[in-house]
Amino acid sequence: MSITDELQELHEQGLAAFSQAKGLEALEAARVAYLGKKSSLTTALRGLGQLSAEERPKVGQLANELRTDFEAAYATCKNALAQAALSERIASGRLDVSLPGRARPLGTQHLISAIVDEISEIFFGLGYTLAEGPEVEDEFHNFTALNHSPMHPARSASDTFYVRDLSEEGAAFDGPEPSELLMRTHTSPVQIRTMLAHKPPLYIISPGKVYRRDIADPTHLPQFTQIEGLAIDEDLTFADLKGTLDYAVKRIFGEDRQTRFRPHFFPFTEPSAEVDVSCGICHGAGCRFCAGTGWIEILGCGMVDPNVLVNAGVDPQRYQGFAFGMGADRIAALRYDLPDIRLLIEGDMRFLRQF
Ligand code: DAH
Repeated sequence: MSITDELQELHEQGLAAFSQAKGLEALEAARVAYLGKKSSLTTALRGLGQLSAEERPKVGQLANELRTDFEAAYATCKNALAQAALSERIASGRLDVSLPGRARPLGTQHLISAIVDEISEIFFGLGYTLAEGPEVEDEFHNFTALNHSPMHPARSASDTFYVRDLSEEGAAFDGPEPSELLMRTHTSPVQIRTMLAHKPPLYIISPGKVYRRDIADPTHLPQFTQIEGLAIDEDLTFADLKGTLDYAVKRIFGEDRQTRFRPHFFPFTEPSAEVDVSCGICHGAGCRFCAGTGWIEILGCGMVDPNVLVNAGVDPQRYQGFAFGMGADRIAALRYDLPDIRLLIEGDMRFLRQF
């Protein structure tokens, strides 16, 4: 076979090898075989010297054409492989922006907070504003100014959590002696704080946590939530109290519900009453839920005792008013037929997710 034929054959083989290379490794093998130092082409070029002067330029030119073609074929193949690799990378990392996002569970308001907000809104609508007081109270605001006698049983250490400030140097908790400071047992001390801080007319609503030394059971919690109301003005009567609470109770429980005011006693109101709402199950006929009475007790109220006005710096000759207090936990339990009030504080998601 002449050298020209050999080169011709080499040309075909080389181009085939480059065009068939399916990956970088095969491409590199083809490069070594057809363009490398030990390739047939290099060997052929090395043998040029032995050719006749006539043949030499022809074969030389042919060999150079081969080299140029091989280099071009190598470059084309390399580009194609790079392009394919890039396409693959793009395809595998593709982001489908039309897919729905991941749904994360959203938290919701706790039932107690929802009830507090709802009832507060009812009173905001009547022109009441929000008032707040500390949960660590003193005996004056929690009991004394609210007209509790010095020996009132609610003051006892078995009913009330007394606290001591242990932050001072040398302070130690040294026994159950009642101290000045306590966890407020009701939201009524906010009445005193509000009257001492602001001049009448006053129309305030004050929700908040309260504490009592009770063991948790289906109807009691050692910490629960009350909503206090206070109205002080120049011409308020028991009729205003009745109208206001009847309106609020119907907003809370439904227009078809009735209210009933029963005489009661609270140290800080005179006269005092407990308010019942007609039973939502039997509508007054009497059933197990309302213990056969047709009524369910929901709040305490009364006309503010003149002693309380005096204790809080309000002139009872000029002003009078009414107050009321209700348990948010109890209202939640009644509204949602909760068999056990402890459900409200246990944080069981199966319960909480229902609301
Ligand atoms: N403080 C009372 C309690 O905790 C509830 C209450 C009753 C509040 C009558 C009032 C009221 O403002 O007038 O049992």
